[in-house]
Amino acid sequence: MMQSYSIADTFGIAAPASMKVEGFVPSQNPYVPAQKPYVFRKDHLRDVLAFLGFPNGDGLYLTGPTGSGKTSLVEQVAARLQWGVHAVTGHGRLELNDLLGQFMLVEGGAMQWIDGPLTLAVGLGHVLLVNEIDAVDPAELIGLNEIVEGKPLLLPQTGAVIIPHPKFRLVATGNSAGAGDPSGLYQGVLRQNLSFLDRFRLLEVGYPEPEDEMKLLANVVPGMPETVRASMVKVANQIRKVFIGGQDGSGMLSVTLSTRGLVRWASLVATFKNAPNALAYSLDRALTFRAEPSEREAIHRIAKDVFGDDWQV
Ligand SMILES: Nc1ncnc2c1ncn2[C@@H]1O[C@H](COP(=O)(O)OP(=O)(O)OP(=O)(O)O)[C@@H](O)[C@H]1O
Ligand SMILES: [Mg+2]
Repeated sequence: MMQSYSIADTFGIAAPASMKVEGFVPSQNPYVPAQKPYVFRKDHLRDVLAFLGFPNGDGLYLTGPTGSGKTSLVEQVAARLQWGVHAVTGHGRLELNDLLGQFMLVEGGAMQWIDGPLTLAVGLGHVLLVNEIDAVDPAELIGLNEIVEGKPLLLPQTGAVIIPHPKFRLVATGNSAGAGDPSGLYQGVLRQNLSFLDRFRLLEVGYPEPEDEMKLLANVVPGMPETVRASMVKVANQIRKVFIGGQDGSGMLSVTLSTRGLVRWASLVATFKNAPNALAYSLDRALTFRAEPSEREAIHRIAKDVFGDDWQV
């Protein structure tokens, strides 16, 4: 059962009241992700909603740097539209068979077929969300080609043929756009098969604009003064600029402060707010303990420049 949702109310963005999107009627579906605060960006939302509404035989591939909000964008759109999601994380040994399902020993010693995430999503009209798809062996993914196009899913192990539900959608996320990772920062990323990639629409999800990161931090740490949030966002953006994988590629840092890292930093600052050096102490735990000592020093210098006298180590 479907119902229409107001885009402005559902996603908290500026849109005419007449703009609606179709979603599912709320039910007890356990596969609908839990709703969490998420700051939606209009252009990304437009692409995701257009895809969910009318995929036209395509999958959707979200690409962008680590921790930019790709996985959570898909999950949080689905949460608000009551759309079931089966999420899997790709790795080098993931096989198509893992997605189809397996025979398992049940009580009484009998073997019973248990549907895997792909089979469930195809049959129930849910989203199959393959995270880190660029780490999967390309040969395994070719098996998904026909399913993206809406052809029936055949389970060789049981002989069952599953006719795709009209609301089944395939969404993938990855740090590369499928052409491998020239920066060498993302381990295990493999160049994907062209015929497979050709079946996807691409959506690039970079780090949010400062005003959006300010907003999402306000959700996580409502008590934090606006000036502190603004400085944290500024530090994050400066780190991103000198990060080797960054926009112009001229950087010198091998770690970066993603939106995920920024959120972690802010939550830690709130936890340790009574410590005299809460900002630096938390930044170490959120990011810089993972960096080389010289890089840690460089990052602290960036933060000190931004925070001025508020920065204590
Ligand atoms: N627009 C946003 N609004 C609110 N929180 C966000 C937003 N974008 C990112 N976040 C925060 O950042 C975290 C990481 O986001 P997410 O897991 O979606 O990143 P990702 O792009 O899938 O990263 P990876 O490439 O490492 O898988 C989220 O759990 C959330 O806390
Ligand atoms: Mg992800």
